[in-house]
Amino acid sequence: MAILEIKEYGEPVLREKAIPIKEIIPEILNLIKDMAETMYADSGVGLAAPQVGVSKRIILVDGEEDGLIVLINPMIIQSEGEVVEEEGCLSVPGIYSKVKRLSKVTVKALNENGDSIEITKEGLIARALQHEIDHLDGILFIDRIGRMERQILLNKLKKKKQKNSV
Ligand code: NI
Repeated sequence: MAILEIKEYGEPVLREKAIPIKEIIPEILNLIKDMAETMYADSGVGLAAPQVGVSKRIILVDGEEDGLIVLINPMIIQSEGEVVEEEGCLSVPGIYSKVKRLSKVTVKALNENGDSIEITKEGLIARALQHEIDHLDGILFIDRIGRMERQILLNKLKKKKQKNSV
């Protein structure tokens, strides 16, 4: 197991459309283990494979009482309502903004054993599921906020990076 490097805003892999998994080979299972270790090391509530530089359709969310949820080729098949809450991303460090999301989602996917599963979640986990599935399509949470606010946040991010590089 290993903690992987998190790709940050500006890395092209975060903007790619990730490729579906055809077969769950040992290499994929190892990647999932490393992703889980990375997510918990960074206290994230979710992680998508493109965030560790792998353009494949795999996401993880911490399902609280359900423990770790691994979803391969996830798809939202049902939803209910809308809710606005603050959100952040390990790939856009230090930046938080209110984002409108569906309040309840049902996601269909394969688990790590290759079984077809469906999960229905509300609240923080529903939000994390939508955020991580967005990553698989090259979408970041800052794409889902107003143009002016995005510009302000991106300037803040730029200044932070300059500080870190000195
Ligand atoms: Ni993210």
